[in-house]
Amino acid sequence: MVKAVVCGAAGGIGQPLSLLLKLNPLVTELSLYDVVNAPGVATDLSHINTPAQVAGFLPADNGAEKALAGADLVVIPAGVPRKPGMTRDDLFNVNAGICATLAQAIANAAPNAFILVISNPVNSTVPVFAETLKKAGCYNPKKLLGVTTLDIVRASTFVASVVGQPQDAPKYTIPVVGGHSGATILPLLTQSEPKIPAAILNDQAKRDALVNRIQFGGDEVVKAKDGLGSATLSMAQAGAHFANLVLQAAFAGKTLVTQSYIDLNAAAGGEDIKKEIGADLAYFSVNVELGRDGVQNILPIGNIDDQERTLLAAAVKELGPSIEKGVQFTPAPP
Ligand code: NAI
Repeated sequence: MVKAVVCGAAGGIGQPLSLLLKLNPLVTELSLYDVVNAPGVATDLSHINTPAQVAGFLPADNGAEKALAGADLVVIPAGVPRKPGMTRDDLFNVNAGICATLAQAIANAAPNAFILVISNPVNSTVPVFAETLKKAGCYNPKKLLGVTTLDIVRASTFVASVVGQPQDAPKYTIPVVGGHSGATILPLLTQSEPKIPAAILNDQAKRDALVNRIQFGGDEVVKAKDGLGSATLSMAQAGAHFANLVLQAAFAGKTLVTQSYIDLNAAAGGEDIKKEIGADLAYFSVNVELGRDGVQNILPIGNIDDQERTLLAAAVKELGPSIEKGVQFTPAPP
């Protein structure tokens, strides 16, 4: 029996993400929470003939706590998305408040749940969750996971396209580490499997363009939607994929490796990452080994080349202040 909850379930990401979780055979109960329309989305999804039983909740009458009660996994795409010209950081003030409120509700109703944070800026909202949970006395860093999967998905799509075999996108695995915003997104092209042809990696213009497209791919969507939001459908797919990895590890006995933005104190290996990146950052997106209880090992970044080392330095520089902003955030009194 696995209960999954989506907070922000009526939004652009929330609706298709809820649909994909309703289709996940590991989910037996799906609870949808939003400040608008969650019961409507829930009723719609409840007609799909898969096992998960769906219910929707609004804030009235402690709706958040009711939605979250006993949850095993909570996915958070709640908050405002970007408009053209905005960076993810511009969203901080509004979304940090929403995240702090939701973290408190999770602490009250589902203190043992996995928490998957999609709300931007992820580099700062994950620390907001951690700090709120610490104050509530129920912080488990092994179960707090910033979702960077869309960067990984984009990396394989864009690499396959540059290689000239766009249909091979699913075959490419390219680790993406660092953070989830512009220059903090560090695709490790030299670790691609299958390998990216040397003719592309050694062509500086092609390589720079590829890295830039992975780092700023979100802007393509914001621009194309022209004021009507940011990535929603690709994010829903990426979020559901990541949620499924967590569920497989926690409830189907699998051990899986992916990347996620986490507290480097979550498990063994975090101190080695600080040495690898040459900085004492509290959070970083790293290779994580997921098991029954969440992050069971933090794996090394591994071999990178000089160009990736330069990008790493830029990512580290930008991440520090974003993390600090999240750590220092004080929610406005209710
Ligand atoms: P949206 O505006 O379509 O949906 C957000 C939903 O959150 C709305 O339904 C809204 O009513 C709800 N909401 C607002 N305050 C809430 C609260 N206190 N409790 C519960 N629900 C609340 O936005 P969209 O496009 O779905 O994006 C959501 C977030 O995901 C944004 O912050 C966006 O920047 C982020 N995002 C993250 C990505 C990632 O890779 N991690 C990729 C794309 C977007």
